[in-house]
Amino acid sequence: MAENATLVLQGKKYELPVTIGTEGEIGINIKSLRAESGGAITLDPGYKNTGSCESAITFLDGEKSILRYRGYAIEDLAEKASFLEVAYLLIFGELPTQSELDKLNKDIKKQAYLDDDLKKILDGFPKSAHPMGVLASMTSALVAFNPGSVNVNSQEDMYNAIIKILAKFPILVAWAFRKRNGWPLEYGDGSSNYVNNILKMMFDMPNEKYELNPIVSEAFNKLLILHADHEQNCSASTVRMVGSSHAGLFVSISAGISALWGPLHGGANQAVVEMLESIKENGGDTQKYLAKAKDKEDPFRLMGFGHRVYKNFDPRAKIIKKSADEVLGKLGVEDPVLDIAKRLEKEALQDDYFVKRKLYPNVDFYSGIIYRALGIPTEMFTVIFAIGRLPGWIAQWREMRLRKEPIGRPRQIYVGRNKRDFQEIQDR
Ligand code: CMC
Repeated sequence: MAENATLVLQGKKYELPVTIGTEGEIGINIKSLRAESGGAITLDPGYKNTGSCESAITFLDGEKSILRYRGYAIEDLAEKASFLEVAYLLIFGELPTQSELDKLNKDIKKQAYLDDDLKKILDGFPKSAHPMGVLASMTSALVAFNPGSVNVNSQEDMYNAIIKILAKFPILVAWAFRKRNGWPLEYGDGSSNYVNNILKMMFDMPNEKYELNPIVSEAFNKLLILHADHEQNCSASTVRMVGSSHAGLFVSISAGISALWGPLHGGANQAVVEMLESIKENGGDTQKYLAKAKDKEDPFRLMGFGHRVYKNFDPRAKIIKKSADEVLGKLGVEDPVLDIAKRLEKEALQDDYFVKRKLYPNVDFYSGIIYRALGIPTEMFTVIFAIGRLPGWIAQWREMRLRKEPIGRPRQIYVGRNKRDFQEIQDR
């Protein structure tokens, strides 16, 4: 039942309305606080306790390890759905009927090409460029080739912009990867489904077509679904923030890519495998790395551990761990890094430091190990995360625009110098 919260500040009482979500989450609405109090605001660095919006896309309960897209359990979706069905669900709110899915597929295929001039931009990057940087720049460059802002009041305009980014983004991903390898650029053959086409665009060679393997396709589909949305994380909030200035969809997505790149966010999957590799190279002493992670003087963190919201097992990590065992087993891949990961997890979960802080393995702890087994190189891990997260970013952007949210603009508490007189250069 909605009720008010009472805030007492400097002897004066303020009644603040409370919003209760469909899962019982409580939000104290401080919208009128500043105006009524003559200047007081809330202070919450990192937004650890701040809800930036009401959203109907994803629900997660970090204490109970629950993650649901539009009400559907992540476990069910990962097991039973295709990535494109999940994309439709996140963006438009319902699972598609067969004819809706067919239409989506058809519309995406029609837009699955890039202006040839984009190759000139790609050519300008050194081969050594990280594919996340290339992807962010190329996604931004898409605007130049598809000018005109989306009229968000037109369902058709909005739909067309969404189809364009869903169709063109995987090509950019494949090109960023192929450029790095010096391989000719590919469009796939259009005959495969969305997920298989990504694999084909990445790995097809003119002299040797990529052989689709159902184990690889299934694992890839599952990984993309697990990454598809995660409510108001750093990159989704970035997409909403940039989009809130009414900048277009493509640049908002480009900003999301940049936010995802950081090692505390999506970049953790690359960082995890690099960490596991270096543990292996240093003789496999997991205890040494646990000690480093606990040492406050040492900047090292156990990558793939801890989460802003999950204070229990990340449900995605559970699915991925099981999938890693299956995929490596079925493909007959032996990866010593998987054994190190399992040992590290076991030891960390028994260690007081991690137990006390509720630090559990997150989605990125095992995902890189599967990507390796699927033949995806380390520097592409975060890029694959970005393809998975694309529907989530689109859904967050669309919801923000349809709800006509105001421009995102936090306040601050100023702690700098008070007013002082200007000093001429010779007097400083
Ligand atoms: N290793 C060692 N200590 C840690 C770790 C870790 N991975 N994560 C958190 N802590 C400690 C932290 O030092 C702090 O200790 P104290 O209370 O003594 O100061 C306490 O746990 C709370 O950490 P926090 O940094 O305040 O928590 P946060 O919510 O701000 O950060 C996080 C969450 C994910 C950034 C952080 O856990 C982290 O850096 N993890 C490693 C990077 C990683 O795996 N990121 C992927 C996240 S999941 C996928 C995604 O979001 O894209």
